[in-house]
Amino acid sequence: MSVDMVTISPPDDTPSVAARDRIVCFVNDELSAAALRKGLEGANVAIRRGTIRNAMRMLETDTDLFALVVDISGIADPFTELEKLSVLCPPDVLVALIGESREITFYRELMEIGLTEYLPRPLTRDMVLHQLRPKLLGDVAPGAADRGGHVISICGAQGGAGATSIAINLALQLAETTKAKVALLDLHLQNGETAVMLGVRPGPGLRIALENPMRADTLFLERAAIEINDRVSLISADEDLDAQLDITEAGVRHVLGLLRQRFSYIVVDVPVPFPPSIHPVIMLSRHVLVLLEAEVTGLRNAHALRTAVTNIAGKDRVFTLLNRANRAGGLPRATIVKALGAEPDMVIPDLGKGMTQAVNLGVPALKHVRALRRHLAPIVREIAGVGAQRKGWLRRLFR
Ligand SMILES: Nc1ncnc2c1ncn2[C@@H]1O[C@H](COP(=O)(O)OP(=O)(O)OP(=O)(O)O)[C@@H](O)[C@H]1O
Ligand SMILES: [Mg+2]
Repeated sequence: MSVDMVTISPPDDTPSVAARDRIVCFVNDELSAAALRKGLEGANVAIRRGTIRNAMRMLETDTDLFALVVDISGIADPFTELEKLSVLCPPDVLVALIGESREITFYRELMEIGLTEYLPRPLTRDMVLHQLRPKLLGDVAPGAADRGGHVISICGAQGGAGATSIAINLALQLAETTKAKVALLDLHLQNGETAVMLGVRPGPGLRIALENPMRADTLFLERAAIEINDRVSLISADEDLDAQLDITEAGVRHVLGLLRQRFSYIVVDVPVPFPPSIHPVIMLSRHVLVLLEAEVTGLRNAHALRTAVTNIAGKDRVFTLLNRANRAGGLPRATIVKALGAEPDMVIPDLGKGMTQAVNLGVPALKHVRALRRHLAPIVREIAGVGAQRKGWLRRLFR
């Protein structure tokens, strides 16, 4: 890309040191903005609404930055616009693009003209974390070298927020979409509802493994996992309510380690508040979903729960899921956004009495309430990414 015609630069050509780490992103959709915010957490990032044209307008007066991330969706002739951008953009500023094309030739052409990276929309936090962040910031994405299964924790900010329903159906839909093996781990050992909702009876295996990790070998899974279908297994317990359990952190770490060797995804129904013994689950989670309903109690607890997760695992893992949105009598959306300080990351509307009927029938709601699948799809996409295999192929081809 020619940069001979750079005409606008700071008078003495020495940008201030303070702004040299600044990354400015111009995107037009909320999903991409959220993915960039989370994936570039900790960096000096400004996210603005707009496309490559807005970026050029900024560069006319402000070139004091480290990197630029711009959306070229809807631009008829991106190469002409990129040519213009290159004139305004100082040569040492990294430029990454977001767009609609998934064509390999397009990607290759962009790399040839010296762009840092190209990501197809819709962006996910993981795409930003694993593909863009290392190129912009040079740091390795957290967990990138970690080959174990992807842990997703589901925590209800209030009782009855739908944590168990979401955990079960998310596990089923993840398996269906990705064709990978999925474990559903219920850490409510005494009053867990996953088994009831799926119409199965757990044995004592999980409790034994969590209390005495030395006794949990690879046979543990054969004994404790109940196959829900070809790809999904449930690992849960049904201990007496008056039982004195002695769950240890080592036990939790060991069980999770075994599950992560065998399954690609582990969806965990997590008891709240977290007993210290289950901190390893939060620590190893790539996604922690904090569920709340549009109620005062949910709002109050969601804030505290997000803070607890952040303290254990870091801020970029936490996603707020507003469940049963628009339920009659619930708080208005504006009140919720104000109290949360932001829009919820994910929303599932109230899906009516079919959800409770499914519980009473002992069948997954996914099979009983048709709309649930559609509302879970964006969450599955955030967790698994789109075209995960294709991403791997691109990486091998180019690096
Ligand atoms: N989006 C929804 N629309 C309608 N009903 C729902 C929705 N999500 C969950 N429910 C219903 O709400 C009830 C409580 O759900 P669930 O048991 O999953 O919540 P929970 O957070 O796990 O509760 P607990 O605090 O008891 O563990 C169930 O009857 C379930 O079917
Ligand atoms: Mg529950």
